[in-house]
Amino acid sequence: MSAQSQDSRATFSGKLGYVLATAGSAVGLGNIWRFPYLAAKYGGGIFLLVYLILVVTFGYSLIISETALGRKTGKSPVGAYHYFSRSPFATFGGWINAIIPMIICPYYCVIGGWVLRYLAGYLAGGVHELAGENYFTDFISSAGSIEGWFLVFALCTLAVIIFGVQNGIERASKIMMPVLVVLAVVVAIYSMTRPGAAGGIKYFLIPDFGRFSWMTVVVAIGQMFYSLSCAMGILFTYGSYMKKDVSIEKSTFEVAFFDTLIAVLAGLMIIPAVFAFSGENAAENLQAGPSLMFITMPKIFENMGIGMIIGIAFFLLVFFAALTSAVSLAESCASTLQDEWHVGRKAATLIVGVIMLVLGSLSSFGFNLLSNIRIFGMDFLDFFDFLSNSVMMPIAAMATCLLVLRSATLNGIASEVTACGAGFRQRKIYNFIMKYLAIVFLGVILISSVLNVLGVISM
Ligand code: PHE
Repeated sequence: MSAQSQDSRATFSGKLGYVLATAGSAVGLGNIWRFPYLAAKYGGGIFLLVYLILVVTFGYSLIISETALGRKTGKSPVGAYHYFSRSPFATFGGWINAIIPMIICPYYCVIGGWVLRYLAGYLAGGVHELAGENYFTDFISSAGSIEGWFLVFALCTLAVIIFGVQNGIERASKIMMPVLVVLAVVVAIYSMTRPGAAGGIKYFLIPDFGRFSWMTVVVAIGQMFYSLSCAMGILFTYGSYMKKDVSIEKSTFEVAFFDTLIAVLAGLMIIPAVFAFSGENAAENLQAGPSLMFITMPKIFENMGIGMIIGIAFFLLVFFAALTSAVSLAESCASTLQDEWHVGRKAATLIVGVIMLVLGSLSSFGFNLLSNIRIFGMDFLDFFDFLSNSVMMPIAAMATCLLVLRSATLNGIASEVTACGAGFRQRKIYNFIMKYLAIVFLGVILISSVLNVLGVISM
């Protein structure tokens, strides 16, 4: 599968092919790095509850819509929108979906670089050093080191795309994913059974309604899109590679289920460990944000005794999960450029590389050389994350809902979903959400997150 096929579009081998490739894209840093730190920061159990509700309602509806639109039109987002109309709305809707991965991919590779740095650290035997109090801060404060590791990760991603070793990577991740699940279960059990961890389990699993704020919903919905790889055009493309006889309903359910499972497991590894290992600093560490995984995991591994081996295994698996996701991000950017600007594969990859270099370097240097530049109070990485997740993705999702309602029609989606011969069991719920809830809800999310950043309201 990929955009190399110009004449007849390549397809996934069947349901398994689709589920594995889509899960490879969906499961990544979003689950293991982003979900736990957001859950820690935005209320624990209440965040988890809101997140789960959102996945089974909006998330699931959106994945079905995007996959069905992709399969029906046989196109990536820009082409899929244009299949229905050439109106300015369609052009806007297609392009906003296509641009989001270009904003996410660079900073994704910066975090991928952090993973590589820790992997290298464990390979060199630095179990204690990596668990040191200031290790992470020192690392990101050094412009050369954070940029260097970002470049290594970005080059790995581009190399996969240029040399077309996608198949190799996919085959490897078929083995890696199950291993990741097993390792995550082992580490989660270890983490949950440490003295003091009970507070963390409670914090993560039991909703405390007193901690609910509108911000919880705003952040949870952005995270849901991010983690499921939806509201950014990718699932259109994947849907377009899907054969007609594969059940959209079943396969998207499996992807969403697996993705959520990994996120919850990651939460169970990391949040109890915050309580067990950071003592008095627990409350402060819960707020740590993007650095959380890099602060807590090394402490768990140091405590485990066999930390070096587990550390290597963990960061290697996370590296693979991140690489498959980064590849799908970069691939979707490159294929949009190929399709829409009619440039060759090499040129498209080069353009993506330049965008990555510029935006990724800004994100890296935002922690050191450029740390005095703040955009609405955020460093560059946070800003790109906010811009894509809280502003552009709700817009992209709204555009897709409008496309479904106005052009593709709910019946059109249903006939695509049932094209495999099976029924559409969730059809009523799906229609209800799309018709009455989605657009209004997404609009409220969008407006409130923008007003919040502008300081007009405080959530
Ligand atoms: N879903 C991926 C993750 O959770 C990130 C991603 C988003 C990958 C969009 C591809 C496309 O890490």
